[in-house]
Amino acid sequence: MIKTDLSGISDFVNGSELFSLAREARAAHCLLESGKGEGGEFTGWVRLPEAYDGEELERILEAADRIKKDSDTLIVIGIGGSYLGARAAIELLKSPEYNLISKDTPNIIFAGNNLSGEYLGRMLDFVRDREFSINVISKSGTTTEPAVAFRLFRELLEQKYGIGGARRRIYATTDRARGALKQLALAEGYETFVVPDDIGGRYSVLTAVGLLPIASAGIDVRKMLHGAFSEMRALSEKRMDNEAWRYAAARQALYRGGKKIEILACFEPAFRFMGEWWKQLFGESEGKDGLGIFPASVEYTADLHSMGQYIQDGERRLMETFVSFDESRREIFVPSDKENLDGLGYLAGRSLAEINRAALEATKAAHIRGGVPCIELKLGGISEESFGALSYFLEFACGLSGYMSGVNPFDQPGVEEYKRDMFRLLGKPGF
Ligand code: PA5
Repeated sequence: MIKTDLSGISDFVNGSELFSLAREARAAHCLLESGKGEGGEFTGWVRLPEAYDGEELERILEAADRIKKDSDTLIVIGIGGSYLGARAAIELLKSPEYNLISKDTPNIIFAGNNLSGEYLGRMLDFVRDREFSINVISKSGTTTEPAVAFRLFRELLEQKYGIGGARRRIYATTDRARGALKQLALAEGYETFVVPDDIGGRYSVLTAVGLLPIASAGIDVRKMLHGAFSEMRALSEKRMDNEAWRYAAARQALYRGGKKIEILACFEPAFRFMGEWWKQLFGESEGKDGLGIFPASVEYTADLHSMGQYIQDGERRLMETFVSFDESRREIFVPSDKENLDGLGYLAGRSLAEINRAALEATKAAHIRGGVPCIELKLGGISEESFGALSYFLEFACGLSGYMSGVNPFDQPGVEEYKRDMFRLLGKPGF
């Protein structure tokens, strides 16, 4: 279970300010639970961990086994909520260097998340001589970036395996009934998985959207769902000691007090794509109607040597949320060296976990002194269960926080704006 440590905001927000937000948190919680708030038709993720479609989960696991057997590479085509969660899970639970390590599961290549010919060209070259499959993911089925990438990779797959062979290697994750990808999958006979109608892209990591690529990388998705289920239970109480209420209320209190930017910080480099996923989740959910905390993320200690100066000493509109893991999967100790020319003798024999934790404590203390309120989300170790728990926790806190700030946390009307201009420039019919 995730703990929200608010000791680092006590110089900025007092207990009674936080407590006064309990009424708003309760109202937001009721809206999420009842589905009666704005965008309530997209709150299917709230009960997903207990209502998971078992038959679909079996098919996901079977498809992942097939991919593992017949492919050394899986191309995952999707953008935004249709890829960030899977990438975050694979990097955190396996490794950011997953594709470089020797393993008995396929490489996972993400495509369809940009329009760069340089990038797509490199990825096409990479898979040309490999045995590969494709998981194309698009809820709407009309998003340009994945649609372009799918055309390219499908063409290559058909050249390699013939139309019939390619068909058996394409897995489409999309709407149950609507959209161009669904129609194409029906026409071509691809195996399909469902993005439920009541779950939007950025809340979909625990559906087939995330689970098929994650399972293909050899990660136990049942454990992940179990972690999410336990967290769902833990967050069900409507009380101010609900850890998601505390996070949402702290963010709102700080925002209303002038802290307009939230930095998500972690001392595990493998967490980097969790930061990317979190930015989409909160940015797209809250950034509308002229409102919203701007979400940024940093990877410590690396970014202490780049962004550290600004965070310590720049414009004081920042709040910071640390995600910490109190157990390490690897124990590495600093070696001793009689010469001690590097002056590190005082660290000899001490674990990296201890040193990294000291860096976190020191950073937090310095930033608080510098005028940056710090929240800490505390987890046990990095595991499938904790990934499931954290993703559920953050989705729930985001839904709460969105409703508390008076916006619809489940739409993204602003995303359409650039598309209209791009389509007009490219001469798309109707634009
Ligand atoms: O959260 C969202 O709904 C969006 O970010 C989508 O995930 C993203 O735009 C991709 O959309 P689609 O899956 O329809 O291609």
